[in-house]
Amino acid sequence: MSKPLVGVVMGSKSDAETLQPALEILEKLGIEYEVNVISAHRTPEKAKQYAQSARERGIEVIIAVAGMAAHLPGVLASWTTLPVIGVPVASGELKGVDALYSIVQMPPGIPVACMAIGSPGVKNAAYMAAVILGIKHEKIREAYEQYRRELQV
Ligand code: RP5
Repeated sequence: MSKPLVGVVMGSKSDAETLQPALEILEKLGIEYEVNVISAHRTPEKAKQYAQSARERGIEVIIAVAGMAAHLPGVLASWTTLPVIGVPVASGELKGVDALYSIVQMPPGIPVACMAIGSPGVKNAAYMAAVILGIKHEKIREAYEQYRRELQV
């Protein structure tokens, strides 16, 4: 097994079920990943250390999944210049609209690529990671292009 290229981070263990389809897609596309639970408000120091060390550990894309105030993707993006893909989770009373607004409304200069709420969003986060990695990694580009061909039936 080679080093993980994608760092998948969720704000709480309660996000794990929502996140699962992303992991399955990464596996299907042959993309190595790591998964961590890091809360931007409960463990802010861990969030900083994770993002600051990600590049030197070989991570090339971060997927950050969070609900409610959902500051995790933006906080991670503030500590790294790696691409951060954020996914809003429908975990609170506002069913993910709160998280969507939080993630999509990053102020200019520190971008987060915001996906749709919940299951479609986590799936697209994995595909977006494949698209980004495919610029450099030919095997990943080919795997994603093969999937796109399969969609054409
Ligand atoms: C966010 O708050 C997490 O990403 C989760 O979606 C939501 C609720 O977290 P728990 O109270 O279930 O830990 O931090």
